[in-house]
Amino acid sequence: MKKGSVGVSPENFLPVDIPSTWKAMEALYDSGKARAIGVSNFSTKKLGNLLDLARVPPAVNQVECHPSWRQAKLREFCKSKGVHLSAYFPLGSPGWFKSDVLKNPILNLVAERLGKSPAQVALRWGLQMGHSVLPKSTNEGRIRENLDVFDWSIPDDLFAKFFDIEQARLLNVSFFAHETLSPYKSVEELWDGEV
Ligand code: A2P
Repeated sequence: MKKGSVGVSPENFLPVDIPSTWKAMEALYDSGKARAIGVSNFSTKKLGNLLDLARVPPAVNQVECHPSWRQAKLREFCKSKGVHLSAYFPLGSPGWFKSDVLKNPILNLVAERLGKSPAQVALRWGLQMGHSVLPKSTNEGRIRENLDVFDWSIPDDLFAKFFDIEQARLLNVSFFAHETLSPYKSVEELWDGEV
C-alpha cells in the first residue's frame, strides 16, 4: 500500500517488490525479532522464484487447502523444497463463502463411519496429509470440537476415498473480480497462472 493511504482501493496499491520485501524479512530473522519467516498465497512459480533468491528460505507457505482443494502440485513442490504447507480455510470457510466443503458426501460418509463431525474429519484429513490446519471459530463448543483431532485417525481405506473428491478452490476469479481488487484482471494474473 502507498504510505499514508487509507482503505483498500486500486489507486492505493503499489507494485509488489518481493525481492526487497524478502530481504527486509531476512533482516528481521537475522535480528532475532522473527524466529521464522514465511509467505502466503505463493504459487509454485512464485515460490520457486523466491527460493532462487532467498538467503533464508521461507519456513512456510500458507494457502487455501481443504479436501475440496488439496493443492496437489503445490504440496509436492513445497515438500521437495522443505517448505511447510499450512492450510487456511481448512473447513471451506462456511460462514464466509456459500461453501459445500463440509457438505461433501465423501467427507460425510467418512465422518459417519468414524462417529466424528465433518469438520473434525476435514481437519484430521489435513493433518494426515502433512499440513498444519488453521480453523477459525467464534463458538467455544466448535473450538473444542476442532481441537479434538489428535487421538484418532482416518484409516487408510477411508483416507483413500478423499482422492475422489472433485477439486475446486473457493478463492476463484469471481471472488477477485471484486472491484477493490480490480488491478488484477484475473486470478491467473494474481497467481501467475499457477497453483
Ligand atoms: P463459527 O465461528 O460460528 O464456529 P475456516 O476455518 O475454514 O475459515 O472456517 C471458519 C468458519 O467455519 C466459521 O464460519 C465458523 O463458524 C465455522 N466453523 C468452525 N468450526 C466449525 C465446526 N466444527 N463445524 C461447523 N462449522 C465450523
